Amino acid sequence: MGNNVKRLAILGSTGSIGQQTLDVVRSFPDRFQVVGLGGGRNDALLARQIEEFQPKLVSIEAASSRERLRSLKCEILSPEELAAHPNVDLVVIAISGKAGLSPTLAAIRAQKSIALATKEVLVMAGGIITAEAKRHGTQIMPIDSEPSAIWQCLHGEEQRIARLILTASGGPFRHLSPDELKEVVPQQALAHPTWMMGPKVTVDSATLMNKGFEAIELSWLFDVPFENIEIVIHPQSIIHSMVEFVDGAIKAQLSMPDMRLPIQYALFYPERLPNKLPHLDFSNISALTFEPPDLEKFPCLKLALEAGRKKGTYPAVLSAADEVAVALFLKERIGFLDIPKLVAEALEEHQSTPHPSLENVLTADDWARERTRG
Ligand SMILES: NC(=O)c1ccc[n+]([C@@H]2O[C@H](COP(=O)([O-])OP(=O)(O)OC[C@H]3O[C@@H](n4cnc5c(N)ncnc54)[C@H](OP(=O)(O)O)[C@@H]3O)[C@@H](O)[C@H]2O)c1
Repeated sequence: MGNNVKRLAILGSTGSIGQQTLDVVRSFPDRFQVVGLGGGRNDALLARQIEEFQPKLVSIEAASSRERLRSLKCEILSPEELAAHPNVDLVVIAISGKAGLSPTLAAIRAQKSIALATKEVLVMAGGIITAEAKRHGTQIMPIDSEPSAIWQCLHGEEQRIARLILTASGGPFRHLSPDELKEVVPQQALAHPTWMMGPKVTVDSATLMNKGFEAIELSWLFDVPFENIEIVIHPQSIIHSMVEFVDGAIKAQLSMPDMRLPIQYALFYPERLPNKLPHLDFSNISALTFEPPDLEKFPCLKLALEAGRKKGTYPAVLSAADEVAVALFLKERIGFLDIPKLVAEALEEHQSTPHPSLENVLTADDWARERTRG
């Protein structure tokens, strides 16, 4: 095998990001060897992916699926064992929610390159993750379109940053009144105008919690004070974010909204390669518009920004309470506006620990889940 073939493990390969990562791999068959795949419950899709990519190592959350996958001649590992396996060079973490945390830590401690999609990992434990990554000399590369845009703008720059300008599509409910928002049902929240994503992140995009998560993610990834991150609604989703330097110059990253580009950028970093993804055609773009977010109408964003500023275990509580509240909403057990209500109640009641250890974070996470489940 050539030196420029990367051996990949993709955790969450059956999800939206995981499947798009495999699409990128299909486009560059000479550059990657998929040595490990990890799924949650969708063993039928995982089995098809195993047949196509022939990885030797597999992880699956659902215990009932393990026998079936063993029959495909794979070694069944835990997500942590897969992330730290000696045959793996680069680990893609695309498991949604808290379940992404422990494999990320395992990959960091095994000094793997990490392409991280699971933003909740940095929201709940950003201080711990970035400190561990520094200690082990591990690079964390974002595969989230906005943090990737900032990362691309900063490439080769040694100048001081004045502001990170984080763009947001505004979600599908930008124009709804508070009364209309009260009536939103899961089916409406799951229909995002520009991005095809898993259910949890799609609901987070509709409440704008997702944008607050990204602000927290950015502050940890690029070590930028929270006060220097500004959020701007940009419904066309063409500018994926911007960096303003101290002299007032702004660099932006523009492209069609397609996650395969930030995935490709992380997998090949720092190399850029031609691809068959749709490119921007300026004759089809009549306007690029910008407006401030409405924090009263979308209280999740306000809650996330407050938790991010206050740090301690507040972001862990924010993330855990949101994960439970979104699951309750998707089961139609609570309304759309109950999501911020439950998250706010958990944050108000929480006694935060400053500079938390991993144990403090996990305790806060457990407490917030229990409290939000009611
Ligand atoms: N989709 C996007 O455009 C996008 C963009 C930026 C960042 N992200 C972030 O990337 C992450 C994944 O998003 P997604 O849209 O790809 O979500 P998704 O479509 O819901 O996929 C989630 C993946 O995680 C697996 N999974 C869930 N719980 C698991 C567990 N306990 N153990 C092992 N595997 C588990 C699922 O397996 P099964 O399906 O087999 O159950 C699936 O493979 C999220 O944190 C999201 O915020 C997504």
